[in-house]
Amino acid sequence: MCGIVGYIGKEEALPVLLDGLKRLEYRGYDSSGVVVLGEKVNFEKTAGRVSALEKKVSKNNFFGNIGIAHTRWATHGKPTKTNAHPHTGCKKEFFIVHNGIIENYKELKKELEEKGHKFSSQTDSEVFAHLIEEEFKDYHNFEAAFKGAVSKIKGAFGIVAVHKSDLEKILIAKKSSPILIGVGDGEHIIASDIAAILGRTKEIIYLGDNEIAVCEKNNIRISNLKNEAVGKKVHKVDISLEEAEKGHFETFMKKEIFEAPEVIKNAVRGRLIESEGTSKFGGLDDISERLKDIKKIMIVACGTSYYAGLLAKYWLEDFAQIPTTVEIASEFKDRKASIDKSTLLIAISQSGETADTIGALKEVKAKKILTLGIVNVVGSTISRETDAGIYNRAGPEISVASTKAFISQATVLALLTLFFARQKTMSLSEGKELILEIKNLHGKIGQILSNQKNIENIAKKYFKYKNFIYLGKKYNFPIALEGALKLKEISYIHAEGYAGGELKHGPIALVDKDFPVFCIATKGSSYNKMLATIEEVKARGGKVICIATSGDKKISKIADDVVFIPKSSEMLSPILSVIPMQFFAYFVARYLKKDIDKPRNLAKSVTVE
Ligand code: G6P
Repeated sequence: MCGIVGYIGKEEALPVLLDGLKRLEYRGYDSSGVVVLGEKVNFEKTAGRVSALEKKVSKNNFFGNIGIAHTRWATHGKPTKTNAHPHTGCKKEFFIVHNGIIENYKELKKELEEKGHKFSSQTDSEVFAHLIEEEFKDYHNFEAAFKGAVSKIKGAFGIVAVHKSDLEKILIAKKSSPILIGVGDGEHIIASDIAAILGRTKEIIYLGDNEIAVCEKNNIRISNLKNEAVGKKVHKVDISLEEAEKGHFETFMKKEIFEAPEVIKNAVRGRLIESEGTSKFGGLDDISERLKDIKKIMIVACGTSYYAGLLAKYWLEDFAQIPTTVEIASEFKDRKASIDKSTLLIAISQSGETADTIGALKEVKAKKILTLGIVNVVGSTISRETDAGIYNRAGPEISVASTKAFISQATVLALLTLFFARQKTMSLSEGKELILEIKNLHGKIGQILSNQKNIENIAKKYFKYKNFIYLGKKYNFPIALEGALKLKEISYIHAEGYAGGELKHGPIALVDKDFPVFCIATKGSSYNKMLATIEEVKARGGKVICIATSGDKKISKIADDVVFIPKSSEMLSPILSVIPMQFFAYFVARYLKKDIDKPRNLAKSVTVE
């Protein structure tokens, strides 16, 4: 997610800007850049980490007391050095950083090109630098040119600009994209996120929508788009950095569950070809020829990522008819798995640093097998070691128990299934139907999130039980496993996940009034079988909590407690049913007063085998 930092004051700008960028790293990004104005223009950008940018700038003398910097998370255009911010116009006089989307950039770009402007990047943002340049021809004044440019753009923006011949001011405009101004002693720090400011000052001005700020060392003027002055309050914020990152949520886990709708939108953005009823991935371009020879898929992963892989196996075999195996990465290494060059190896990992998964990947690479990474953390080992990659774009996941990363993995894997299935037997209309379902997912998740109180009440009823069984069939079997894992991880309650049909082959011996069974019984081809399983549990005096499809009247009569989720295609139903599972574990752990974000004995990224 893009981050902005700006500085004007009495100190050298570079260290403040780099420090700010590092504090924004938790948001996730893929490239970065900085410009510092002094006796000369000091300008550097890079694809990759802020540490790479830092190395580049340290070789030069980046002196100056005013500057802007940015971490970019690619939307329009690949994560390259050229597409990184700051952007500048033809004469390299004005520099801008931008968060948001300039919706009318194509029209503006065309007009500017007709006037002779040459663009170097594929971004929507660059247009703003050229716009200021163009307006400056009329106004000969930075502020007026900036305001003129703002009046021409549509969309969402947090924009910060500097002019190489005006070292006294930074200009800022905001609409639907956060911008804050930290007020320090003879300095102002501008940022898109409070985390970048808190290290220097706790006095903050929150810029409102359609407001423009002129920031000088000791002075700040804010006006609206009609040029009327706007009085602003300086807020004294008394929060720690961690609290700032958490927003109004009590834990990162809850915040991350609530990010699910956004996570889905991000995972899908730019990856659908609706007219062709299929999906595309920039990361697969380089291996498209090799992919044509693929006959089998093998997935390696650990923990929650493994369950995402298991879900993908069902999808890939059902819809794309590609034989798929899923291997626990640590097991793969210890046995002689049958794998040859007709196999595509997919490594799924949130962190991209899990040692077991990396170990499995290395073994496979040695056999020259085609490898693909589905990874969340940009630039991580797995993303570098695989032949090709698809990023989850879930943003940083801080809570040890994975929630939003699973949602993004499942979404990416659904898109990948669509990609392969359309090359096999899935028809155009089926492809289009699936796309529609994918596009409706985030809204449906929103409905589940608004139902959290119901899940909290159920958790309140059950948090003292010592054992749970989770059951699901077909696409919801991996969700039963994941639900049980979540409960184990954060509440330390013993929970086992099983395929619905397995209950009668052993675990039913455990069922009594003290052993609740959590069943996923959403509408679909396995519905009736799950109903029969629930009856078996009830007949043994067991308590049943159910996740069911809204409108299902039958289920309320047999289950003790029900969480309804919106109707969806059977294929995508697990992306919905996992959310109540995550919430249930969360609320149980909260009633038990556990350290939800940092469960005992667990690590977010396990870098040892
Ligand atoms: C650890 C974490 C789990 C995670 C697993 C795999 O065990 O605690 O939450 O699912 O590693 O991590 P990865 O980063 O490879 O997805």
